[in-house]
Amino acid sequence: MTFPITKGCLLVRSRIISVGSYLPERILSNFDLEKMVDTSDEWITERTGIKERRIADESQAASDLAFEASKIALERAGLNAGEIDMIIVATITGDMPFPSTACFLQNRLGASRAVGFDINATCSGFLYALYIADVFIRSGMHRKILVVGAEVLSKVTDWKDRTTCVIFGDGAGAAIVESTSEDRGILSMSINSDGSLWELINIPGGGSRNPASTDTLKKGLHSIRMKGNETFKVAVRTLEDVALKTLADNNLDPSQLSLLVPHQANLRIIQATAERLNLPMEKVFVNLERYGNTSAASIPIALDEALTSGRIKDGDYILLEAFGGGLTWASALIKW
Ligand code: ACO
Repeated sequence: MTFPITKGCLLVRSRIISVGSYLPERILSNFDLEKMVDTSDEWITERTGIKERRIADESQAASDLAFEASKIALERAGLNAGEIDMIIVATITGDMPFPSTACFLQNRLGASRAVGFDINATCSGFLYALYIADVFIRSGMHRKILVVGAEVLSKVTDWKDRTTCVIFGDGAGAAIVESTSEDRGILSMSINSDGSLWELINIPGGGSRNPASTDTLKKGLHSIRMKGNETFKVAVRTLEDVALKTLADNNLDPSQLSLLVPHQANLRIIQATAERLNLPMEKVFVNLERYGNTSAASIPIALDEALTSGRIKDGDYILLEAFGGGLTWASALIKW
């Protein structure tokens, strides 16, 4: 739970003042996938809700997608890059093992005053990054922070594995977070990890455990492995728990939420969570049919679309929540 810091008689909170997103142009539909692996549009639609996803160009890396989304967020905030104090990029598909994708982004944007670093928390990455931004802002250390989720999962997908390749997509979303003394902004956040379940989702190769070699390549250790069914069950349980706890910490009931913006992993996970919270689906934002699971990018992309389509109004209570490899899970309660 987070508590607003009192400065004199002012409560200092952090607030998302703008959001931008970028999706690569190329569309890969379920029908395209039918030609690549033993699957069907019917199976993918029924089991996941996904109809199509976006795939980055060969030349595009995570920072390229992040750059496009960040430009939009900066423009909407009326800021230039030189005014940003910090850049946090959540990604599991950064441009290189090092330097950080945030450093590449800082350079592209010309955000010369900003310190930059990356966060690896898979699909919960954007909310982890938002949590860090919130803490820095409420501490008074920084005032304007660019928080980005950017993924090029198509480059770490095994396109012969039908159990994973139908799920993921590429994209980026960015948010500018600023301090505010108004009665709005991020009310409360929760971030959580359980490393004992790391085997459910991972990319085993390429790190110091299994450094890249002809052997790791031959064994296919550089692409995503997932025990989908087991992950599904843990996801539904933890997402319900974290949502209820975040609301209870703020003396709110699910019925007071205007919109739930969940990580876009699987429509059945989203429906099960909504059902457990007794929330009608009209109060849940879903766009996974068009983009699939874009990991750390999914929440800022969804938030951007929810805002631009008028689904969020000033004063609304919004809950963001995510779940992913690690395992990690997180939530953010926002008064918009
Ligand atoms: N097309 C056709 N059949 C398939 C496909 C496919 N693309 N994929 C799997 N199947 C088959 C399986 O082989 C299995 O066949 P069998 O019964 O003959 O053995 C059958 O379909 C059922 O497989 P399940 O894995 O039980 O299917 P499930 O209903 O669980 O759906 C899915 C799989 C979509 C992966 C689901 O489990 C899921 O969404 N899990 C959660 C994923 C998630 O949230 N991950 C976290 C974020 S990702 C990250 O952090 C990077």
